[in-house]
Amino acid sequence: MKRAKITIVGAGNVGATCAHWAAAKELGDIVLIDIPDFADKTAGKALDLAQCGPVEDFDCKIVGTADYAHAAGSEVVVITAGIPRKPGMSRDDLIQTNVKIVGSVAEQIARVAPGAVLIVVSNPLDAMVYTAWKKSGFPTNRVVGQAGCLDIARYKTFIAMELGCSVEDISALLMGGHGDDMVPLPRYTSVAGIPVMQLIPADRLQAIIERAKGGGGEIVKLMGTSAYYAPASGTVQMVEAIVKDKKRILPCAAYCTKEYGVGGYFVGVPCTLGAGGVEKVIEVELNGDERKLLNTSIEHVKELVRVADGCLGRAG
Ligand code: NAI
Ligand code: 2OP
Repeated sequence: MKRAKITIVGAGNVGATCAHWAAAKELGDIVLIDIPDFADKTAGKALDLAQCGPVEDFDCKIVGTADYAHAAGSEVVVITAGIPRKPGMSRDDLIQTNVKIVGSVAEQIARVAPGAVLIVVSNPLDAMVYTAWKKSGFPTNRVVGQAGCLDIARYKTFIAMELGCSVEDISALLMGGHGDDMVPLPRYTSVAGIPVMQLIPADRLQAIIERAKGGGGEIVKLMGTSAYYAPASGTVQMVEAIVKDKKRILPCAAYCTKEYGVGGYFVGVPCTLGAGGVEKVIEVELNGDERKLLNTSIEHVKELVRVADGCLGRAG
């Protein structure tokens, strides 16, 4: 069977950790790309990771480079290039810098891997997915953003901590943008099939939701830079769904037009991920309060996209 080729652009904390999870799961051959100044460092990370193969029993080719030619023919390209936030910064503070970086990465990838599915991770996520879509010229189903897989993992982790149960028994849904106005949905959250609202009192559940919303900031405060283990793990969950054509239903930033009345933006929604990228956006019924929260989140995404569009206009 032909091995998948997975390219990861941005070999920093999130990118290198994505390579780590993808290699450990033996999802395919891996190309790590960073800027020319870091070409040696990137080659070193790739070599170091490749040398885990004999111990961890994975068999993947791993290349670290600054040369996009190595990405030719990739099935999946993950974009983590850009600056992360530091204490005191919001994700939105990154937009001016990251629009330029993500835009240029998307253009280069479109030249060498025109058939790839792009998974965007760089922040502010919802605006960066839009930027990658605009600059790559890819169809909307082949551009998708990672935020929901991370946000939902945080939400599930906090529920499991509260209940003292296994994270594996929690099933949940979450929508909206990647930010403090993401929308976790308790009505669609269950623990071994039991609605979570029967197990956790409303005030405690609200506290868990607030902690999940601020989950990125909590880690920035502790570490001085943004999280990478869980972001990379969520990203590789998406990579796996695509390279194995698993048709997983995952919360991803997907292009929605009439779905949820979004009107042409990338927003976090449940969707089916497979070899074709986003194969279907799934519409669930929302009550009035949930709809209001989602609308607020969508408005924030639109505002970010307006700023990104302004930056793209200036960048030409
Ligand atoms: P990092 O600073 O450790 O790594 C970023 C890498 O991108 C660096 O190695 C840098 O040299 C590289 N880079 C910069 N410009 C480039 C270019 N033009 N071409 C190729 N590589 C380039 O940062 P980290 O922690 O890995 O975060 C990366 C991005 O992911 C940030 O924007 C961060 O906010 C975002 N992020 C998003 C999450 C999500 O859930 N969507 C979660 C965590 C981080
Ligand atoms: C996170 O949520 C900063 O987006 C990054 O950890």
